[in-house]
Amino acid sequence: MLLTTDRLLLREFEEGDWEAVLAYQSDQRYPRHDAWRERAEEDARRFVRMFIDWQREEPRRRFQLAIVPRGEGRLIGNCGVRVTSAAAREAEIGYELDPRGWGRGYATEAARAMLAFGFGTLRLHRVTARCLAENVASARVLERLGLRQEGRLREHEWIEGRWRDTLLYAILDREWRLQARPAGVTKPAGAWRKTGALRRRRRGG
Ligand SMILES: CC(C)(COP(=O)(O)OP(=O)(O)OC[C@H]1O[C@@H](n2cnc3c(N)ncnc32)[C@H](O)[C@@H]1OP(=O)(O)O)[C@@H](O)C(=O)NCCC(=O)NCCS
Repeated sequence: MLLTTDRLLLREFEEGDWEAVLAYQSDQRYPRHDAWRERAEEDARRFVRMFIDWQREEPRRRFQLAIVPRGEGRLIGNCGVRVTSAAAREAEIGYELDPRGWGRGYATEAARAMLAFGFGTLRLHRVTARCLAENVASARVLERLGLRQEGRLREHEWIEGRWRDTLLYAILDREWRLQARPAGVTKPAGAWRKTGALRRRRRGG
């Protein structure tokens, strides 16, 4: 599977990607938590292997793709949707980026392509996300994509000696379709007339 955006390729993970992943996850600016204080080669290898295993699911429910700027071979992060309920057509979205690439809109661009895939190809009804309340950049990405905050889990996680709140976000398929429609595009006059005529015919008018 391959998705493309203006500046990015979102491609399947390969075994050799662990080196780039380890490099950015070891960056001092990358967020730490208690279970993840130091990253070693084996951690990064396991992380990448997990995404590769997901490629073999049948039917596939989890799509976590490597983010690569177009024209460069360098992996700068990952982004994906994971179906949490096939019956409810619900999935969660998640992403992370090399700190050297932060603040350029890459996460927003990659996640927008993932949402298009989720609502378009997977026919999802609802996509959720969660982030720590203090992760302002991630909350901003979600809001720019049109997700709405639906809740706040107060003091939900104990990280590095204190409790942290978690924010819950979601977007529905109809909300996605509404905002995905290009601004300024209106139906041609004929189309409105036809719709009105159809409605009148159904009402017997
Ligand atoms: C969250 C993350 C993916 C954002 O990546 P990014 O490519 O820098 O995001 P974008 O450039 O698309 O958008 C970031 C938005 O947050 C804003 N932002 C970034 N840092 C911020 C901060 N400290 N305070 C306030 N706003 C901030 C940016 O200004 C931008 O908003 P704008 O376009 O309205 O100006 C990246 O910071 C990251 O990988 N963090 C570590 C992993 C992580 O937290 N993943 C998400 C787990 S829920």
